[in-house]
Amino acid sequence: MLSTAKGFGGGKVILVGEHAVVHGVPAIAAGIRRGVTSVARRHEEDLLHIEPWGRTFRPHVDGEEPLARAFERLLSSYGDRPSLRLDVRVDLAPGAGLGCSAAIGVSLLDAVDGALGIRRPRAALGTVALEWERFFHGSPSGIDNVTSAMGGLLCFQQASPVRQIPPARSFALVVAHSGQRSSTRDMVARVAQQLAERPSSARRMLEEVHALVITAEDALLNGELGALGRVLDRNHAILRSLRLSTPQLEVLCGAARGAGALGAKITGAGGGGCIVALAENAENAVRIADALGAESFIEEVSRAA
Ligand code: PMV
Repeated sequence: MLSTAKGFGGGKVILVGEHAVVHGVPAIAAGIRRGVTSVARRHEEDLLHIEPWGRTFRPHVDGEEPLARAFERLLSSYGDRPSLRLDVRVDLAPGAGLGCSAAIGVSLLDAVDGALGIRRPRAALGTVALEWERFFHGSPSGIDNVTSAMGGLLCFQQASPVRQIPPARSFALVVAHSGQRSSTRDMVARVAQQLAERPSSARRMLEEVHALVITAEDALLNGELGALGRVLDRNHAILRSLRLSTPQLEVLCGAARGAGALGAKITGAGGGGCIVALAENAENAVRIADALGAESFIEEVSRAA
């Protein structure tokens, strides 16, 4: 066993297909550079400490805190092992659609693996982290944990092998926060209820999102950023019709388009959290971010070598 080991789980933005992905449709996500770092070291008892939240958890099978229960399950999946202290640094806003909870799970598993000398591929790490994610979101599709572990641009569909998408052109994404926190669990339940109430329009909506995902993948593979931007706009309209937008999210999307974004949409669960806007390059992205007047960051996606 190593004395200390470091793990990392990245955040993500969903370019097209959130929510529909829970109902079996594929979706396209991009891993982002910011994420969660964990350090595992031997300790007299098992302990999880999370900064900048200043919170400490002990593993607990039926504690009130989902983090304590998830931590217990994660550690017990390793069998016989020395006690560990896990120090976590979160560089993602929680409840913002950036996959914060999944990134914590992936970084913890990565650090514990390292401390115990276990080597597993990033794809397997992402799959195993689904169990962690279930403590926070009820019935997650798995897109957050898989993207957190693998990074890059990928097409995810439940029960199918994940595919990396090599983009033909570089582009930039502006991610801006509405300032409101949201609950993925509540938003997923809101969509499920609407789908149950209107099954035939639900089926048409899921088919349309599926078609948008196919168009988006083609656009990425062929470097057609204008077409990709139109997919983002249309997907946003669908998410809005599912009552996942807010006045703040509408203002941000409108301002991004007004400042030259090729498309803009809610990313992640909605009901608050972030938007993602597509920019042709980093220079345009800076202009868009400046126009938004919101907490934002820019993520550059490089074309495949
Ligand atoms: O808002 P986030 O980062 O939890 O992303 C949720 C994505 C959903 O499609 C809404 C849910 C899921 O499990 O895929």
